[in-house]
Amino acid sequence: MTEHGKVAIIGAGHVGSTLAYTLVTAGIVREVVIIDASQERAEGEAMDIAHASSFHAPVKITSGQFEDVAGAAITVISAGVAQKEGESRVALLGRNLPIVRNIVSEITKVNPDGIILLATNPVDALTYAALRMSGLPSSRVFGSGTVLDTARLRSELAVHYDIDARNVHAYVIGEHGDSEVVAWSVADIANMQLHAYCQSTGLTCSLEDMRAIEMRVRNAAYEIIRRKGATNFAIAAALTRIIEAVIRNARSVLTVSTLLQGQYGLENVCLSLPAIVGKNGVEKIISVPLSESEQQQLHRSAKAIHDTLANIVW
Ligand SMILES: NC(=O)c1ccc[n+]([C@@H]2O[C@H](COP(=O)([O-])OP(=O)(O)OC[C@H]3O[C@@H](n4cnc5c(N)ncnc54)[C@H](O)[C@@H]3O)[C@@H](O)[C@H]2O)c1
Repeated sequence: MTEHGKVAIIGAGHVGSTLAYTLVTAGIVREVVIIDASQERAEGEAMDIAHASSFHAPVKITSGQFEDVAGAAITVISAGVAQKEGESRVALLGRNLPIVRNIVSEITKVNPDGIILLATNPVDALTYAALRMSGLPSSRVFGSGTVLDTARLRSELAVHYDIDARNVHAYVIGEHGDSEVVAWSVADIANMQLHAYCQSTGLTCSLEDMRAIEMRVRNAAYEIIRRKGATNFAIAAALTRIIEAVIRNARSVLTVSTLLQGQYGLENVCLSLPAIVGKNGVEKIISVPLSESEQQQLHRSAKAIHDTLANIVW
């Protein structure tokens, strides 16, 4: 039996520890347990976060071992290494696959009914691997995918149009990585397609502007890592948003990485498309109307993930 308000985080580095703090302050969970290969690190993070307890609603925060994952509604995997400069996705997969394999094997033993949410990169390939290794249904094993990239796109568009990011609806789909695709055909502000919004407001909507925004979104992780060594805040906020959708059964539309089953002629690959996320995990993938060119780019993105996976030794 899973407990509705319990979340386990495996990997308490930049991403996992920031997620733990964000979850605790967001007031959407009852219990957070942090596990890391370095037990000391997990203990230190849990102690530090617990000391903020008088500033927010009660949440139990502890560090633990794999057996403490038992009963978690969601287990987030944020353990592993980040991409080194110039490192290929295949090489990164080679380093993180054994870590994810071991974690999936341990957590499915103690918590077969929970949801597994992957953040470790390359997230699409590892989501597919975790799904196959776990034997769980695809609704319950999915990745953060392009939820972060979508947030970056909405934030860039919000700055460009000087408007609240919550009124910007636009998706990055496909791979969380270099081949990701901006679905411009379904981008809107205040229910108006971008060009119509620009016409009605007199704002610019040039191809160059949009290309520059797309480039900034695609290169965001590299730019941040070059400056501060890691990314943590926006990914933690993105993971918190996904967890909230599950815990509250919000049925939110989020671009999580999930197993495709024929959408746009694609299958046997995990990538991001807008999907409804609720208490059972990924409840439905939404096939939004994409242009011919966006569909071709999506196929190229799926191929990039396939090519990475082709190197997996199962
Ligand atoms: N999906 C996304 O949008 C996104 C965004 C940011 C980072 N990431 C990825 O998340 C991962 C973690 O990034 P980070 O910056 O937090 O790294 P980090 O090095 O700060 O932390 C990784 C943590 O994992 C732990 N760890 C390693 N092997 C483990 C194991 N077998 N069991 C338990 N814990 C283990 C380490 O001890 C460390 O504390 C990377 O793969 C990174 O690329 C993904």
